[in-house]
Amino acid sequence: MSASSKGLGRAVALELAREGVDVAICARSEAALRDTESALRETDVRVLAMPIDLTEAGAPAAFVEATVAEFGRLDILFANVGGPPAGTVDTFELADYEEAVNSNLMAQVKMCLAALPHMRAARWGRIIILGSLTMKQPVEGLMLSTMARSGVAGFAKSLSDEIAAEGITVNCVCPGRILTDRIRTLAQMRSDRTGEPLEVSLKLFDADMPAKRMGQPEELSALVAFLASERASYITGAAIQVDGGWTRSIT
Ligand SMILES: NC(=O)c1ccc[n+]([C@@H]2O[C@H](COP(=O)([O-])OP(=O)(O)OC[C@H]3O[C@@H](n4cnc5c(N)ncnc54)[C@H](OP(=O)(O)O)[C@@H]3O)[C@@H](O)[C@H]2O)c1
Repeated sequence: MSASSKGLGRAVALELAREGVDVAICARSEAALRDTESALRETDVRVLAMPIDLTEAGAPAAFVEATVAEFGRLDILFANVGGPPAGTVDTFELADYEEAVNSNLMAQVKMCLAALPHMRAARWGRIIILGSLTMKQPVEGLMLSTMARSGVAGFAKSLSDEIAAEGITVNCVCPGRILTDRIRTLAQMRSDRTGEPLEVSLKLFDADMPAKRMGQPEELSALVAFLASERASYITGAAIQVDGGWTRSIT
């Protein structure tokens, strides 16, 4: 469960731990990582908490290998990375696009490639990639996310084809707006732009949704737990939105 000291990653780690899954978590800053580690230890499973920056070249593979070294196996990969900055074509530099590809495409690809040999050896595996609504449609201000995650969607679909017969499923989960620090930051950016209080921006974010509210992290982690289970054995190559109906595509 990468990028998992806060937000969606933390919710997924807790959900799976409550189901009895030993979990490895990682993040850059120690404080939140140790806090989540403590919460996980209360569930009585084995926990590995690794401070690491997934944007560093060897870090995604190192995280996977440390997990296998600790637990002797790897059954479920929840591949998550922090989101790219918001902005527009007029505000981004070339380096921003390159960083987004490195972080929000290549770090996830690297984790999948590192996990694959272990899952193939076991002839069982669940790869669940944390994507975004931007895999299905562009979202204003999130060009970098849309660009990088389109690549992730293509990688995941192609990979699912190639390994479906080996008992390994590959799926993406696509949050719209689930209330985490990431969404609070995006709401704050809107407030900074408009001069309106944060509460107003958050209320507008709620109002955008057909459900008229943003989601809670547990509403996404429930789907991940299902996709990770034996019961989801025939679901692969899917990109499933968790967005209160926000996605505009018909399928
Ligand atoms: N929340 C939503 O509704 C939503 C919607 C669409 C897409 N997403 C995407 O889903 C992902 C998770 O979002 P979130 O809402 O859970 O964000 P969040 O609340 O900001 O949490 C991000 C987590 O990832 C860790 N992280 C960030 N960069 C990292 C790095 N380079 N290496 C290792 N760990 C890293 C963070 O810890 P450190 O900062 O300490 O490293 C933190 O634990 C992001 O890619 C986001 O863009 C979220």
